[in-house]
Amino acid sequence: MSAPGTTGTTGTTEPFDAVDVIVAKRDGHRLSDAQVDWVVDAYTRGVVADEQMSALAMAILLNGMGRDEVARWTAAMIATGERLDFSGLSRPTADKHSTGGVGDKITLPLAPLVAACGVAVPQLSGRGLGHTGGTLDKLESIPGWRAALSNEEMTAQLEGVGAVICQAGSGLAPADRKLYALRDVTGTVEAIPLIASSIMSKKIAEGTGALVLDVKVGTGAFMKSLEQARELARAMVDLGTDAGVRTVALLTDMSTPLGLTAGNALEVRESLEVLAGGGPADVVELTVALAREMLAAAGRPDEDPAAALADGRAMDAWRAMIGAQGGDVDAPLPVARETQTVVAEADGVLARLDAYAVGLAAWRLGAGRARKEDPVQAGAGVEWHARPGDAVRAGQPLLTLHTDTPERFGRAQEALEGAVEVVPAGTPVALTPLLLDRVAAP
Ligand code: URA
Repeated sequence: MSAPGTTGTTGTTEPFDAVDVIVAKRDGHRLSDAQVDWVVDAYTRGVVADEQMSALAMAILLNGMGRDEVARWTAAMIATGERLDFSGLSRPTADKHSTGGVGDKITLPLAPLVAACGVAVPQLSGRGLGHTGGTLDKLESIPGWRAALSNEEMTAQLEGVGAVICQAGSGLAPADRKLYALRDVTGTVEAIPLIASSIMSKKIAEGTGALVLDVKVGTGAFMKSLEQARELARAMVDLGTDAGVRTVALLTDMSTPLGLTAGNALEVRESLEVLAGGGPADVVELTVALAREMLAAAGRPDEDPAAALADGRAMDAWRAMIGAQGGDVDAPLPVARETQTVVAEADGVLARLDAYAVGLAAWRLGAGRARKEDPVQAGAGVEWHARPGDAVRAGQPLLTLHTDTPERFGRAQEALEGAVEVVPAGTPVALTPLLLDRVAAP
């Protein structure tokens, strides 16, 4: 065992040795508060090396963390950066975080809807990586819309308009940025304490008063089973509650993609349909369910979000929110240059449309990126014309693929092989409900 007081790479004396911290977790012990504070901070400063943090992350994946321990870890991640404070606003705040899914455009109608009901929504979002889309990429398909706002601009927009969706600055939980990149290349993304602390450190640092989590379950989600999703939801609800943020989680299905589109401008178009009082039933159901939870958590349980969608107040808030960030709400949305249609081969009932395959196809068509610096195509993506349970006829279009670069159609079609299942009429089709469970503080 090394003696404490080891000199780190910066030449300063450090209170712990990284190897001792790794060994403690490897042997199944709880890390002390001081160890947690130190290791998170020292890793961010570059004193704990990547290979040491990789070993610690793997030990956490294998041996887990206790509730207090992960709360301390989250607080230590928050302490590496700035913390926003919206307590001076004239209305309460509530935010939503989704663990990511295919066709998940819910933030777009949800933020203005909740704002229209009197609760401010400070939504710091990211760009898409892999098969799930990013909210900022979707909004950037609106001509003129700007993702980067200063903290002052954000506060002014929250007070004036009531909703802001913008890019998270690099100042929030910088430890997470470094640790997430490391987990990505060391097989440790799936550690539930690390996922929970990663998400919650950013949400708590963002300064929201209430938080509703949409934890996705199914092929198109991080969490493939309900059991895993419940464990993650419980860990995040505990972290939020312990940090003084009123936190609730809904567990929702992601074995089928949401709505009828996956792709940037395609999803904005669908969100506008919802804001206009129409849109696919599942998108409306989830938007309203999440809005009700956000309003209740923010102390406004009597507001009726369904009425605010129907009477145009949510659309007015959308126009104000997009316009405040330079977006031209009346400009036509970009459309892909080429389309290709996939038709039903036989009469019957659509039994399955696999979320992961649709997300992968949209990504291969150009809607997503492989590396974070890659550009995305605004018009690219997948549209589906039936949902599980719908009757279909031979020759009827089932999917339309959109891209500016037709050489991508082949790989997108490969992604969709086996993803669409049509069964003869009369065959029982098991439909998974959208809302699977709810996890709240006891
Ligand atoms: N999203 C995050 O922000 N962090 C994780 O660890 C997983 C998903």
